[in-house]
Amino acid sequence: MSEALIKHLAAKLIAWHGKDGRQGLPWQSIRDPYAVWVSEIMLQQTQVATVLERYPRFMKRFPTVKKLAAAPLDDVLAEWAGLGYYTRARNLHACAKQVMEEFGGKFPNDPVLLEQLKGIGRSTAGAIAAFAFHERAPILDANVKRILARLFGVDGAIQEKAVNDDLWQLSKTLLPKNTLDMPVYTQALMDFGATWCTSRKPVCLSEARKCPFEKECQANLSDQVLLLPRKVIKAKSPEFNCDMLLLRHGDSVLLQRRPDKAIWGGLWSLPESDWRAKEKNSKPSFSKSVDLTVKELFQLVLPNEKISSVIKSCKPIERGVEIKHIFTHRRLWMQIWHVTSGDAVKFSDDDLKWIPLRQLGNYGLPQPIKLLLQGLNLARGDDLRN
Ligand code: ADE
Repeated sequence: MSEALIKHLAAKLIAWHGKDGRQGLPWQSIRDPYAVWVSEIMLQQTQVATVLERYPRFMKRFPTVKKLAAAPLDDVLAEWAGLGYYTRARNLHACAKQVMEEFGGKFPNDPVLLEQLKGIGRSTAGAIAAFAFHERAPILDANVKRILARLFGVDGAIQEKAVNDDLWQLSKTLLPKNTLDMPVYTQALMDFGATWCTSRKPVCLSEARKCPFEKECQANLSDQVLLLPRKVIKAKSPEFNCDMLLLRHGDSVLLQRRPDKAIWGGLWSLPESDWRAKEKNSKPSFSKSVDLTVKELFQLVLPNEKISSVIKSCKPIERGVEIKHIFTHRRLWMQIWHVTSGDAVKFSDDDLKWIPLRQLGNYGLPQPIKLLLQGLNLARGDDLRN
């Protein structure tokens, strides 16, 4: 392992950031731990361009940890709608409550304590501690793993515990000595991975720019940049089908609050059938294609409801669009079925609600369902947003 590289890496990276890093992003100059924490959670799986638009809006709506903790979860989910990975929003809310109840409304500065809070992993804890408290805490997200694996020629699979432990140790060793450098160093590491030492088009393989580490990077010197970090081949994610009921009565649509632990947990969606595993490469095979009756559909999507009175008041079923949605580990084909009811039927399940179209914006909806309702012109204008 190159001692010289270990010694001057932090200074070189900070110098690189001054010249070529991302500057002036709204979360870069803050030290309020609450604001830092919200930005880190939002940035985890969302593009910087989207966060630039949504972060100020979120902070305006929930300016303090106290306000976030006191807000109903549905409000937080509605504000998060469109950002995906809703577990982040539920964890954000739970974490805000934890900070109020267990830490008197103040985020702890120790990364070990931060990591005990809901939704904060070890690397995010390090980032918050570095940005908000100037703590000498290491980070190790996917970008940093890539940088370190290349620079130091780590060629074990990074999912392996021993390799991961070594990378954490390395990340710690590389920290700048001066605690005041921690925010800029941490940001530089993130930016270098996100913009220069990228997975498929690192600058060392282009003519346009010169990587500051080209003479020291083990992967570059041995022509293995695209081979590191070593990847473990992932199986293709499984595919599923389901049917969804879009039931309308007058100006309202029937929505169902999803169980907390399910995909899209806590969001309001269309009642849906169980998911059926789809054969590989086959076309979507929905329950009964066009011949599905209203009764069969209700039995599939609302199996616990008494449906005879509902069915009587319904017009014939109409087949709607098929929507494909890709989750992290699975793909889902949703067949939409349109039904119009003459009555605003009462259902026994409290999580089933007739929601007036103009109020849809008050509810957190999964993105494809929101787009569907907008696309059908069910929701007028920007009613779904605010
Ligand atoms: N991803 C996670 N945290 C980030 C940050 N502070 N800046 C840019 N991308 C990030």
